[in-house]
Amino acid sequence: MSEICITPHANDFAACVKGVNLAQALSPADAEQIRSLWLRYQVLYFPDQALTHPQLERFTETIGPYGHDPFVTPMSGHRHILEVRREPEEDVVPFGSSWHSDWSFQAAPPSATILHAKIIPPVGGGTHFADGIRALATLPEDLRRAIDGRTAVHSARRPYSHAGYRAGGKRTSMKIVPSDDAWQTQSHPVIRTHPESGREVLWLNPVYTLAFDDMEPSESADLLARLFEHMLRAEFVYKHRWEEQMLILWDNRSVMHCAQGGYAGHRRVMHRTTVAGTVPV
Ligand code: OGA
Ligand code: MN
Repeated sequence: MSEICITPHANDFAACVKGVNLAQALSPADAEQIRSLWLRYQVLYFPDQALTHPQLERFTETIGPYGHDPFVTPMSGHRHILEVRREPEEDVVPFGSSWHSDWSFQAAPPSATILHAKIIPPVGGGTHFADGIRALATLPEDLRRAIDGRTAVHSARRPYSHAGYRAGGKRTSMKIVPSDDAWQTQSHPVIRTHPESGREVLWLNPVYTLAFDDMEPSESADLLARLFEHMLRAEFVYKHRWEEQMLILWDNRSVMHCAQGGYAGHRRVMHRTTVAGTVPV
């Protein structure tokens, strides 16, 4: 068993993990420890993990079976790895740079997303994460009452329908494939119970959550805006700084995230996998 060393961040949201080599097959004990740290801290980052594609795939499979990644063409020869790339001359907004949970419009959105840093700019290009468990635990009583028992509609239409994609401006190096499938909708509970830890989560995000079910549109928009303001309070946000060869594993069932820009003139390349999740309840 490895001597795993962890350094948690404020409020036990996010932790740095050292002393384990993800390039090797993990022992069952190490895999179990990483899994329980992931459930506890929600975001784990592992510095200095030089991984080949097969090693990234093997680590992903240790966490669980792959998720299904729509609207983005995977890397050739590696159908479960997406490349998140931005070239120095691109003047478009970075991929993932509005707050979201990955693929929350799916019937069973991913449990985990894994991001491995290949090329990191000298400035900017961080990723911010917001804790949906603490957001719910601290939610003012009136907001809690307003959402109790409710469901909300999620859809990929804003970024991935043809019209939504066009409205986002031109993109060059991401292999995005907009589709009419993005018009499909999926309702999910607004308060979900984490299937492994049992903790309750406020599970909404500004990119994919369109509206509450059974609520008048302007009331729904107002309520969403108040909830997002609460969810993004500074004390719930961990601001991650990358180094090359760092790997992050986050719990997509309780965390929102948002890519940061600020690196015009520099290249940034990440490799990403997702792990299948369950239907939110
Ligand atoms: C993603 C994503 C954020 C980033 O890959 O799902 O949102 O900082 N990436 O690249
Ligand atoms: Mn994302």
